[in-house]
Amino acid sequence: MPRTAFRIIAPTLALVAATTAFAGGWAVITVEDLPDTVVAGQPFDLKYSVRQHGVHLLGGLTGRIEAATAGRLTTTAVGKAAKDSGHYAATLTFPKAGDWTITIHSGFMNSRTTLKPLRVLEAKDRATAERPVAERGERLFVAKGCATCHVETDVGPKLAGKRYEPAWLARYLADPQSVPLPSGARSRMPKLNLDQEEIAALVEYVSAGQQVGAR
Ligand code: HEC
Repeated sequence: MPRTAFRIIAPTLALVAATTAFAGGWAVITVEDLPDTVVAGQPFDLKYSVRQHGVHLLGGLTGRIEAATAGRLTTTAVGKAAKDSGHYAATLTFPKAGDWTITIHSGFMNSRTTLKPLRVLEAKDRATAERPVAERGERLFVAKGCATCHVETDVGPKLAGKRYEPAWLARYLADPQSVPLPSGARSRMPKLNLDQEEIAALVEYVSAGQQVGAR
């Protein structure tokens, strides 16, 4: 099993995330424009933002991106600050096709996130690579940082087994603070600037209910 190496370190990462959450120095990493697939040998721009305590965009960091396939680290890139503070970009070129696991180290204390594997294709196979929308929702749940608050730490409530009305959930994800919580309180959940297509995929995944965030 090529993924064995990651299974072994996964519990350690979760522990680090949980510990830093309560030490006061933690951040949420949100990937922008997560593609379903990329093409081997072609530069791919990975864009992401970093929010301290999940709220304030954090500028001035230097990130490190690691990409591994078949359990072996094979390429790295530097996450450089973009023009807007708190936004970063790194250019990765995957040498070969396969499922690649990408870890983004934000450069802020121990903050990091490991994405669901990204499928890298030979250029000729690209057209056949559509993914089901719920699967895309699951990948976005990790890439947008939802899992950081709702799975790896107790910053947000556990969502597994809960059900939400899809239209309410779509409005909530688009701008959590504009939709009062059932208690009438203002939500502490950040607005992550999701686009309509990302929201649709997340709603599909979250409102399916059973497995949210299970890894
Ligand atoms: C910075 C931490 C954080 C991030 C990132 C985050 N959430 Fe939340 N979320 C919260 C908190 C905290 C609440 C509870 C509402 C409150 O107290 O403000 C919440 C509430 C929710 C709820 C309603 C839960 C309930 O039953 O009351 C859903 C659904 C939800 N989040 C989904 C998501 C999704 C999907 C994402 C990613 C796009 C996400 N969250 C990202 C912190 C976060």
